[in-house]
Amino acid sequence: MKILVTGGAGFIGSALIRYLINETGHDVVNLDKLTYAGCLLNISSVADSPRYAFENADICDANAVAAVFDKHRPDAVMHLAAESHVDRSIDGPRTAVETNIMGTFVMLEAAREYWNALAMAAKAAFRFHHVSTDEVFGSLGTEGAFTEQSLYQPSSPYSASKAGADHLVRAWHETYGLPVMLTNCSNNYGPFQFPEKLIPGLITKALAGEPLPIYSKGENIRDWLYVDDHARALVMALEKGQVSESYNFGGAAEMTNIDVARAVCALLDELAPASDHRSHADLIEFVEDRPGHDLRYAIDWSKAERELGWRPEASFETGLRKTVTWYLENKSWCDAVREQGGSGGRLGLGADSKPG
Ligand SMILES: NC(=O)c1ccc[n+]([C@@H]2O[C@H](COP(=O)([O-])OP(=O)(O)OC[C@H]3O[C@@H](n4cnc5c(N)ncnc54)[C@H](O)[C@@H]3O)[C@@H](O)[C@H]2O)c1
Repeated sequence: MKILVTGGAGFIGSALIRYLINETGHDVVNLDKLTYAGCLLNISSVADSPRYAFENADICDANAVAAVFDKHRPDAVMHLAAESHVDRSIDGPRTAVETNIMGTFVMLEAAREYWNALAMAAKAAFRFHHVSTDEVFGSLGTEGAFTEQSLYQPSSPYSASKAGADHLVRAWHETYGLPVMLTNCSNNYGPFQFPEKLIPGLITKALAGEPLPIYSKGENIRDWLYVDDHARALVMALEKGQVSESYNFGGAAEMTNIDVARAVCALLDELAPASDHRSHADLIEFVEDRPGHDLRYAIDWSKAERELGWRPEASFETGLRKTVTWYLENKSWCDAVREQGGSGGRLGLGADSKPG
């Protein structure tokens, strides 16, 4: 199968493409705009494969996207390209709305035009797989977990824009018959994640001896999914999932943010014994909360287990150890992506956000 992956130079997209090239026989076309979050270094290990092609394009550019469909004639789309950072979406919601909603609209329309012209068998086999987040469901209390039936109650511009995209994808199936599928997953972590996100941010800041900001009292709970488990899940969904269905993926690893920070610091104390900044936990600082900060996310992934045969393999302990080790061994990657992506300072208070 030839798969058009959008956002394949980002964190999850690059893990997906490495998995597709190394572990499956599928061909891959990677469509990516290379925003601050995209980096070709993330896929350099597979970029020479004859089964891989790269197209530098914007998902909001209808002509460019149509040209990629015409040139490569994919059998499926896996749509990951997005503005993915909640804090950035608070400071500048327009980019999140344009990329995540309008970009998904452009992808759907290009896919629909291409799909309409396919022969019957190819038309029946085609899939548009939209990759989304558990954040569309809003916040949980102390009990329960999100299922595929949970209500959509997004809190941030990011999660609202992803929710909007999910609704468009479903509507393109109901209205036009486009064979779509959706997956919603919890917070990912692992190698090649841009250092503005919680876990790589903690690692890179701690190694630099910088304060480790934890919002409020660090009591917010996330369910952590190792990125390679997610990449495997996405491929299983594409290969075995049913049209118009959605599947939730989680890591079975609920942790408060403060416990995540302490676990990262303990691993750094152990794995970087020569660091000048031990004990790294002394760098933890509590800071003003993010506005609209959801208290708890937890995922019920029993449908994925039942229908796709998927379950997460990495525990939080093994996944975090692999992640911290990778960041310690890849400081030049961190320097390279940090240079393209801004200051590393506090984002997401919304204080300087100008409406519009
Ligand atoms: N990271 C997580 O924990 C998580 C959890 C659940 C769902 N998701 C979803 O998974 C997907 C991938 O997330 P990620 O963490 O890898 O994101 P990321 O920010 O690391 O990567 C996003 C990629 O999309 C590309 N991109 C952005 N705007 C584009 C545009 N207009 N045209 C083409 N390419 C564009 C960027 O260059 C980058 O390569 C997103 O849709 C996100 O909503 C992420």
